[in-house]
Amino acid sequence: MSSIHDVVSMKPFSRKQIDGILDLSETFEDVARAKKPSNLLAGHVVATLFYEPSTRTRLSFESAMVRLGGQVLSVADALKTSSAWKGESLEDSILTVQNYADVIVLRHSERGSAERAAAVADAPVLSGGDDANEHPTQALLDLLTIRREQGKIDGNTVTLVGDHKHSRVTNSFIYGLANYKVNVILVNPPELAIAPDVLKHVQDKGLKVEETSDLAAALKKTDVVYIFRIQKERFKDPQEYERVKGSYVINRAMLEAAGRPITVMHPMPRLDELSTDVDTYPGACYFRQSFNGVLIRMALFALVLGKADVG
Ligand code: CP
Repeated sequence: MSSIHDVVSMKPFSRKQIDGILDLSETFEDVARAKKPSNLLAGHVVATLFYEPSTRTRLSFESAMVRLGGQVLSVADALKTSSAWKGESLEDSILTVQNYADVIVLRHSERGSAERAAAVADAPVLSGGDDANEHPTQALLDLLTIRREQGKIDGNTVTLVGDHKHSRVTNSFIYGLANYKVNVILVNPPELAIAPDVLKHVQDKGLKVEETSDLAAALKKTDVVYIFRIQKERFKDPQEYERVKGSYVINRAMLEAAGRPITVMHPMPRLDELSTDVDTYPGACYFRQSFNGVLIRMALFALVLGKADVG
């Protein structure tokens, strides 16, 4: 039996486990690209319950299960289309859905919802993101992306640009990075700084973190830049969004002015913060990054369904 049962946070993962998941994920490359058939998960069923919108997370989880020979039960827009609309609690929904599926993928708009689901479920629960708290499987695919683009994770200076206050991707990613020997630079408007408890957690683990508002200067020492959308939907005060929107934009000229090759990541979807003229820049990898999500999600299904182990 795998030592990994649920994936609801990046905090508990060791470097050995993360490296093992990344190694395992890369063994699925040909299956993910439909070059090789697989029946590894034949007879298994995943239920994807999405209470918030998604393109990449839901479809890459579903692609991973289907290409490994399993089947999918999918609820999109679950606040309106499931019995949550009638007032059913998350716990009751999870206890019901696990009668129909062997593993549950959950995206939900309440902080801590993934942990609550895992606490009541016997079936493994994989979080697809809970409010602005965490998005752990995104962090794993982001770490895989750095390893594939740069050859290794250690030794890189990774610059995160944008809305860290509302970003579950930032939180899970920086928890993951804290297992490696990297330098992190955070660039954001002062109002959108990372949560103090998240910063303290990773600094206590020894992660070197610099905070600055000077993006051009940061790019001159950056190996990997990861830019985030300012998340309009999470602002309580619309005027605050108007004040900070457009604070940081990355375009090709800025990358070329940095005078070094830079890997450019984005969790997507993008708005104006990442110019489309970056798409042909050699380090632009955000569409490869979204493919890597299939590899990671294949590895996670294999692990939690007892088809592989990483210790
Ligand atoms: N990166 C990510 O979570 O994208 P979706 O919202 O499309 O799933």
